[in-house]
This record gives sequence, C-alpha cells and structure tokens, in this order.
Amino acid sequence: PVTRSFIDHLPKAELHLHIEGTLEPDLKLKLAQRNHIDIGQTTIEEVQQTYRFNDLASFLAVYYPAMNVLQTEQDFYDLAMDYLQRAASNHVRHVEIFFDPQAHTSRGIPFKTVITGLHRATVDARALNVDAALIMCFLRDFSKESARQTLEEALPYKDWIVGIGLDSDEHNNPPLKFARQYEDAQAAGLHITAHCDIDQKDSIEHIRQALELMGVERIDHGTNIVEDPDLVAYAAKQGIGLTCCPLSNSLVSPHMKGEEIVELMGKGVKVCVNSDDPAYFSGYINDNYEALASQYQLTQEQVAQLARNSFEVSWISRQQKDLYL
Ligand code: HPA
Ligand code: ZN
Repeated sequence: PVTRSFIDHLPKAELHLHIEGTLEPDLKLKLAQRNHIDIGQTTIEEVQQTYRFNDLASFLAVYYPAMNVLQTEQDFYDLAMDYLQRAASNHVRHVEIFFDPQAHTSRGIPFKTVITGLHRATVDARALNVDAALIMCFLRDFSKESARQTLEEALPYKDWIVGIGLDSDEHNNPPLKFARQYEDAQAAGLHITAHCDIDQKDSIEHIRQALELMGVERIDHGTNIVEDPDLVAYAAKQGIGLTCCPLSNSLVSPHMKGEEIVELMGKGVKVCVNSDDPAYFSGYINDNYEALASQYQLTQEQVAQLARNSFEVSWISRQQKDLYL
C-alpha cells in the first residue's frame, strides 16, 4: 500500500494546472473586497455553495464569472503566489501553469496586467524551490480571430511563455479550428498541447487531430484514447504525455478514470497526475495522487512511475530532467 507520506515526499512536476482554478474562496472574498466588487457572497460557505456542477459546461458556468475579482497586476501575483506556496508544500519541483488571457482581456483587463503579475510570481517561486513556467491557453469557444489576436499580444512576452494550450468548452470546438495559430506558435519556438476533455462528443476525433494533424506533444486529460488501440500505440511510440486529473474527472463525470490511467501506463503511455482546478475540484496534486492510489490500489512503483512521467513529458531540458529523476 502507498502511504500519504510516500506521496508527499515524492518530487513531482505539475503540468495541468489552471491558475484561475486555484482561486480559493478566501482569496476570492479578499479580492472582491479589495476591488469593491459585489460577487453575491460574503462568506466562504456561501462561495462554496456555488460550486455545484456535474459536467464541463456547468463547471465553466461557475468558473468564468468568478474571475471578475481579478483586476490588478497584484491580484494575478497573489493568485499565483498562493498556488506556488501550496505547490512547494506538495513537493512540486516544476510546474507549467495554464492561464486564459482571453478570460481577462474580454472583460477589459490588459494582457500585460495578467502576464506581468503571473510572471513576477514565477520569478519569486524560485525562493520556494519551485521552477515555474507559463502556458498560454486559447479559449476554444472563442473565434480563431480572437486566438490570432491573443497570440499577437503574447509574442512580445514569449520569453515568459513556454507553450500554448487549448481549453474551455470543447463541444463543437475541435483542435483543428486553431491549426493556423498552433503553427504560428510553434514557429515562434513555443511548445504545444491541447485539452481533449473526458467523454466529449468527438473525443477520439479530437485526440486524432491534435496528435496526427497538429503534432501536439501532450494531451490534457485525453484518457478516452484507450478506445483506439492505434492511437494508444502512436502515443506510446512518440512519447506523448497525457496529463490526467483524477479528482477533476470524478467531479465532472461519474468516473475518476483510474482504470484507463492504469491501462495506459501499462501500455507505455506517459500518463501523469495533476490537479486541474484544485480550488474547485477539492484537492491539490497530492490529494489527486492519494485518491487514485487508494481507489485503484496502485503500488509504490506505479506511483513513482507517474511522478517520473511528469518530469519526462515536461518542457524542461534533458539535463534538468536528469537532475530531478
Ligand atoms: N477543461 C476545459 N476547460 C477548462 C478546464 C478543463 O479541464 N479547466 C479549466 N478550464
Ligand atoms: Zn484543464
């Protein structure tokens, strides 16, 4: 059996973490007060009562409006620093943090405000012994023109960004919608990944597009790949990373997808464990490892493999990987 202490002490990388999803109820209330914004709740319990969802769409309907409390550079810094402190205490040594610029620019917050605050936190995280990078996500339910404009705004800051991702509502928003923006981002030297959420209408087609047509290096979630043995073989051969999120899975569907995670690991696919939106999905990364390990009776060796995979599919140099492994 795997103990919590074993999990706590294991050095790990976190590769699927939305910074906006780390907004805890107490910080939400503090920022609402600081920025004179009426969010309709005044206590932590009242905020928590709004966290009712059973699928991706109902989660996103709670998630995006809450971001209104994020207004200033300092707000984004505080948000990221709160997470990075928790990451340090979870023994996360490297993190690649998703952020959604369009969720902020669309309500009048300048791109520069967002990225400057987040970047300053990644610099200060070094003092916590956490190496932090940023992944900019396009909102897939926004137009490709909006993604193009966002990439243009981001390019002056590209040294602060390690890669590009794709998130939000997947329904009828296939990865290929953003093929051109992905090509442009890659040409600018950025890594690429994309969400293929669990149990979507076109999960397999979206995974196929992302892997075979767009050449992404990782898929975020992506466990539905088990339904297609050819894609599984391709992912194993190419060293594709799947960034799985057990607690998130269990809150937007009836399943944690543990059987799929174990099966994929057995087939040589580099799956890893992450927290996705920990303030909403009731747990940080070690809680995710613990839930998966206890519910599916993982061995210590399997848990250690998941942590090794997280470094292997991270976007750090081979040399840096070898330091952690
Ligand atoms: N899927 C899609 N959009 C998201 C997610 C996710 O897991 N988390 C935050 N935004
Ligand atoms: Zn996600």
